[in-house]
Amino acid sequence: MPVNLRNRSLLSLVHHSERDLHFLLDLSRDLKRAKYAGTGSRRLEGRNIALVFEKTSTRTRCAFEVAAHDEGAHVTYIDPVSSQIGHKESMKDTARVLGRMYDAIEYRGASQDVVEELAEFAGVPVFNGLTDEFHPTQMLADVLTMTEHCAKPLQEIAFAFVGDGRNNVANSLLLVGAKLGMDVRIGAPRALWPSEDHVAMCRDFAAGSGARLTVTDDPVEAVRDADFVHTDVWVSMGEPIETWAERVALLLPFQVNKELLAATGNPRVRFMHCLPAVHDTRTVVGARIAEQYPELANGVEVTDDVFESEANIAFDQAENRMHTIKAVLVAALG
Ligand code: CP
Ligand code: NVA
Repeated sequence: MPVNLRNRSLLSLVHHSERDLHFLLDLSRDLKRAKYAGTGSRRLEGRNIALVFEKTSTRTRCAFEVAAHDEGAHVTYIDPVSSQIGHKESMKDTARVLGRMYDAIEYRGASQDVVEELAEFAGVPVFNGLTDEFHPTQMLADVLTMTEHCAKPLQEIAFAFVGDGRNNVANSLLLVGAKLGMDVRIGAPRALWPSEDHVAMCRDFAAGSGARLTVTDDPVEAVRDADFVHTDVWVSMGEPIETWAERVALLLPFQVNKELLAATGNPRVRFMHCLPAVHDTRTVVGARIAEQYPELANGVEVTDDVFESEANIAFDQAENRMHTIKAVLVAALG
């Protein structure tokens, strides 16, 4: 099958082939080099892109905006409260309106069904900027960053995700690693394992790609010999505040601290996080958690010493959101 991403939506990565993903990663590298060299060209001149955010964002919004502007496109940012979406107008109707005006739509919200409905009725490509189930644009940045920080061929790279193993980022890391033939470990308490259906689907992809997938409740087993250790917040956007008590109890053994990084046995291990991270008390959330759980005063899902160490490549990862989202836009609309 040839690679053809023109007018293609990016909803979950489930329907993208290994070749599609390699094409997007290669294009991301080309666009990143072109930006650094000052040789970029404006492939999206005259295009209009709607950015619909029903949840807050820093990286995803900025990445879409900068990527679009670099390529000559215009964007409209629609925030979580000021449109008719949801209150007075269904997503099906919104899709049919936005599809008349825009060449593509980015959507961030809770439900995967909603982003799929948007794609069904808009008639233009739709890009999932995060739902409760998946975070596909994040995955392109994560894989690009891993390839930049590891000399091994992609299929020899081993990475672990420790923490809430059934959140959007964990689901998506398992999926992208399975598609690309990587060694993926999810370390999480059983109550937070990815769903059996999701694991079964990923195992099917792994059978074709040669990926090695491990889901374990032992954090040390998860990280052993890993090249990269990923984590994410213990309570995701949209989850009730009461969730914290249960998560802290479940996830404390999965905190990324110096001991867990040492347990990889790999002195060159790198730490990754989609961000934002709760690693100190300089945020409202960090301060509140530290007050309630003094054992987390030095960081929640990652300790501050790891976050501020040379091992942390989360800011390279954040930059790569922009180059990879640019590749998604150029491939679909360029
Ligand atoms: N990683 C990520 O999606 O960040 P934002 O929530 O800031 O977009
Ligand atoms: N799991 C996190 C990811 C944020 C980018 C959330 O959904 O809040």
